[in-house]
Amino acid sequence: MRKKYYLTTPLYYVNDKPHIGHSYTNIAVDAMARYQRSKREEVFFLTGTDEHGKKVEQAAEERGFTGQVLADQMVVRFQDLWKRLNISNNEFIRTTEKRHKMAVGAVFKKLLEKGDIYKGEYEGWYCTPCETFLTETQAENNLCPDCRRPLEKLKEESYFFKMSGYEKKLLEHLENNPDFIIPHSRYNEVVSFVKGGLTDLSISRTNFQWGIPVPGDPKHIIYVWFDALLNYITVAGYGVENKKLEELWPADIHFMGKDILKFHAVIWPAILFALGLELPKHIAAHGWWTVDKKKMSKSLGNVVDPIEMIERFGVDQYRYFLLREIPFGSDGDFSIDLLIKRINGDLANDLGNLLNRTLVMIEKYNEGMVPEKGTPQNELKVMLDDVLPKFNKAMEGVQFSEALTEIWRLVRLANKYIDTQAPWKLIKEGKKDEASAVLFDLAEALRITAILIYPFMPESSEKIFSQLGLTVNSDKILLEEAVWGKFPPKTKTIRGNPIFPRIEK
Ligand code: ME8
Repeated sequence: MRKKYYLTTPLYYVNDKPHIGHSYTNIAVDAMARYQRSKREEVFFLTGTDEHGKKVEQAAEERGFTGQVLADQMVVRFQDLWKRLNISNNEFIRTTEKRHKMAVGAVFKKLLEKGDIYKGEYEGWYCTPCETFLTETQAENNLCPDCRRPLEKLKEESYFFKMSGYEKKLLEHLENNPDFIIPHSRYNEVVSFVKGGLTDLSISRTNFQWGIPVPGDPKHIIYVWFDALLNYITVAGYGVENKKLEELWPADIHFMGKDILKFHAVIWPAILFALGLELPKHIAAHGWWTVDKKKMSKSLGNVVDPIEMIERFGVDQYRYFLLREIPFGSDGDFSIDLLIKRINGDLANDLGNLLNRTLVMIEKYNEGMVPEKGTPQNELKVMLDDVLPKFNKAMEGVQFSEALTEIWRLVRLANKYIDTQAPWKLIKEGKKDEASAVLFDLAEALRITAILIYPFMPESSEKIFSQLGLTVNSDKILLEEAVWGKFPPKTKTIRGNPIFPRIEK
């Protein structure tokens, strides 16, 4: 059986509708999923919603709903957004689904029997917006060290997960797998956190209702993070379908923002150790988006709605901007000005113009037929030989902006090539064959560019193919076709509207 390439996003809380931060993660994972598919990997891409917990319960109460009603309303907002953004997830999981509740119950029982879960008393602090337990020393001035909001003091009976027992094993794993955490700059942060000592984790609460009850002790509700993390194996059929588990597990990359790296790099591995399951191969944490240099918040009224952005600027334009503007792992600042700059510069001037100029010349000098032979050893081919391995290395290392920068080296050189080769001059001088060869080179550079941009801008990739006169099913775009000289003979171009219209301010 061939193991699938398993990619995940976090499961988003349904206390509010999605904004650009959530869309960024899903666009990043989608780019990776499409890239791996273009390399003939069988990808399984999972996203979903985290519907339980005190935070969702509170948000529901404020609106006069039950948790389930709020979840049912909000989940549609997420699902619609993923459709609009062309997110190619294979499955969507909601933590309120029966299959998930069953998996969580089964895990709880198993670890209780094994002695990895025990009952005790929790005394400490809780931050509801972060759904996190905090110790006395962390809770300086009764404020959350992460979100600076007031904490709630708890003293209650609770079930605990024996996380302390897995400290050594986790450290060993981190030492033996230096690429476990992507980007590497976050690796040391996790190592020193684990070295600081792991304490047992409180995994049940008695003072709220909205969640999965502890099997056999229903006044305890399972801690929302213990519940949510397990989704990654619920979907892999944990406890139900061994074959599916083998096909999917371990996950290849769990993607998330840096805010929840510790949950994934510390708590989740400890749970997996306890269950005797392998750890995911990589955990990739990206940076944080601000808007006009400020944290996005309802009270500031600066939350950017992805739907509004794609309606104003286009889906691929938005996807491109997010992945090109900021190196994966770094924080980023969103602004309309920067977005327009990228659209008018990289997309309209560079790529859009290249397509348009090439097709106009092919119509003018070769009756709209792509010539059949190019210039031997031309500089575009030489550039491709340099770009391709660097593009692949960047993609494998989850460095999307670097990968795009590589593609643009080819695009920019192709624009220059038009000027330096000046086919119109060659025609005037009667060098028709030379002019044709240059046109072939340009069409070929565009065909290959369409393959390389596919993970980032699937619709535009398809548009380039179809304007070049090539029929392509965008699900069948293969990286192995990005080889110089394969442009099919006797192709008639079909020039259309500019694929990236300039945005006038
Ligand atoms: O944490 N910049 O859900 P959540 C970048 N339910 N990314 C951002 C962002 C921003 N400003 N805001 C949100 C949870 N994100 C848990 C996860 S997983 C088993 C459970 C993205 O709705 C980023 O991916 O608070 C971040 O990690 C995630 O949304 C947090 O989503």
